Amino acid sequence: MRNRFIRSATHEYMADGEGFVNERIGNIYRQLAGNGVACIITGHAYIQPNGKASERQASISDDKFIDGYKKMVAIAHAGGSKIVLQAAHGGRQSKPELCGGDPVCPSAVPDAKTGIHPREMREEEINQVIDSFAEAARRGRDAGFDAVQLHAAHGYLLSQFLSPHTNRREDQWGGSEENRFRIISGIMAAVRKKAGNDFPVWIKLNSEDFIETGLKVSDSIKIAKRLETAGVGAIEVSGGMMEAGPKTARTGIAGEKDEGYFLSAALEIKKAIGVPIFVVGGFRSAAMIQKALDQGIDMVSLARPLVREPDLIKKFKEGKKRADCISCNGCFNPEGIRCKHA
Ligand SMILES: Cc1cc2nc3c(=O)[nH]c(=O)nc-3n(C[C@H](O)[C@H](O)[C@H](O)COP(=O)(O)O)c2cc1C
Ligand code: SF4
Repeated sequence: MRNRFIRSATHEYMADGEGFVNERIGNIYRQLAGNGVACIITGHAYIQPNGKASERQASISDDKFIDGYKKMVAIAHAGGSKIVLQAAHGGRQSKPELCGGDPVCPSAVPDAKTGIHPREMREEEINQVIDSFAEAARRGRDAGFDAVQLHAAHGYLLSQFLSPHTNRREDQWGGSEENRFRIISGIMAAVRKKAGNDFPVWIKLNSEDFIETGLKVSDSIKIAKRLETAGVGAIEVSGGMMEAGPKTARTGIAGEKDEGYFLSAALEIKKAIGVPIFVVGGFRSAAMIQKALDQGIDMVSLARPLVREPDLIKKFKEGKKRADCISCNGCFNPEGIRCKHA
């Protein structure tokens, strides 16, 4: 890595209806890589059509998508950046009109926010998901990505398995923490088989779900220890799920006191394990980013600030003190991400 800045996964809302990536996305990566980001994590790509969560989301559910990704990888590498594929399944946060009408979840727990009543997954579907994540990783390796990141945060399917709120199963896939983790250990082992031992597997993990019956930091520390044993390459610490309201990409970041809202959780996780820890969420000033690094965080991830200023890292190097992003969330735009204020 040429520095400590990661572009956190940011769904670009720019793929075509089938899920192919294209030059519009390539242009974003060109700007990020050409202006100093050390590593770009792609927007979440769905591993199965029934896990499609959003409009214009990119897919990694078939070999036919590999060639498009090869072009994205070449663009990032030409600019001197690493690039990592984020692989995801939306679970109960998949949109019914996009995922075939039948969102699934470890248990049939309705989402109070979206009103979706998901269907409980059958065991063979869980095994298919494990296989699809491994196939996605293998496709990522074939496309030239430097690593794959499993999206196990923000209330998507893997996060639903980890969370006691959405996983109330009584079979081997639910109940104890070991059982709730089983799908991830299965994926880690399957990726090794399909993509090789030397292809790094990263994970984006919730420190906390912000739901009374959900994950707490004390749980995520235990999960992080399991991830270390399973051979994860790096953990990016985030938090929240749709049902919890706006906890992931928060608004109202007025000053340093509001920044880095998952930093203390990330530091607790860092203390417990030896794998590299990244943290995302509300970093805006060079001073807070430096503080996180000084305290032992390995890399700091940014999403919205790099939508507004794709050349922010270069500007930080030149002495800029604070990102211009005002955290208004106007960039969640189904027509394609762009800053409302740039
Ligand atoms: C438009 C938009 C799209 C996002 N898409 C993803 C995604 O695909 N995968 C993911 O893990 N997080 C996604 N996020 C969350 C960000 O990665 C990040 O965790 C969050 O925005 C907080 O970081 P920030 O304050 O630097 O923006 C998205 C955020 C935004 C604003
Ligand atoms: S619309 Fe612009 S200012 Fe608002 S959160 Fe997105 S990038 Fe930041």
